[in-house]
Amino acid sequence: MNLEEHSFIQVLFIVLWIMMPAYLSNTFAVISGGRFPIDQGKIHSDGNRILGDGKTWSGLIGGTTGGILIGYLQMNYGNSIINTLANTNNYDFWGENPIIIISLLAFGALLGDMTASFFKRRSKLNRGDKSPLLDMFDFIGMALFLTLLFDYEWLKSWIIDGYAPLFTLLIATPVLHRSVNIIGYKLGIKNEPW
Ligand code: CTP
Ligand code: MG
Repeated sequence: MNLEEHSFIQVLFIVLWIMMPAYLSNTFAVISGGRFPIDQGKIHSDGNRILGDGKTWSGLIGGTTGGILIGYLQMNYGNSIINTLANTNNYDFWGENPIIIISLLAFGALLGDMTASFFKRRSKLNRGDKSPLLDMFDFIGMALFLTLLFDYEWLKSWIIDGYAPLFTLLIATPVLHRSVNIIGYKLGIKNEPW
């Protein structure tokens, strides 16, 4: 992945494109979720739920699968789209092991979301309560962290390529996250607009 010959706007599209499995796995989790709480209803020693009813196996499995499916579709059918948006093609976006990277992005996003819920419960926040910074960056943080553990060189090759990728993630993540959640809320599949 070499971003140098691309404009800022092109890098923006490329970064969003690469991270799409992570952004959308959450959306799939909202749709498939709600059944079989991962903490099985258990209470932590502080008297609050370990994770709460908002973190379920159906959400984790449906969300991860959905995110992987999105990446798969991008890889196989998305070339003309990203070519139009960023004048580049798709072939090496996710490195040498694209399916693994895509899976780590999708699963990592939900693992980050779960980790955040754990800390939200520890600070006495109930399911669905707002925790702006955590809610916005938990998923992208963990998704990137998992790919870093698996293939640091891949991550380094695009995310540390100038300031544009990080800038995009920092600015676009909250905007996208918020927009998708407002849409989900309006459609009635999400309980809160955040
Ligand atoms: N969801 C799920 N399993 C997951 C993630 C999400 O079932 N692993 C579903 C739940 O129905 C959840 C909804 O998606 O209510 C929205 O997700 P999120 O906003 O992350 O959960 P909250 O209900 O806000 O709970 P928390 O306060 O723990 O974030
Ligand atoms: Mg929430």
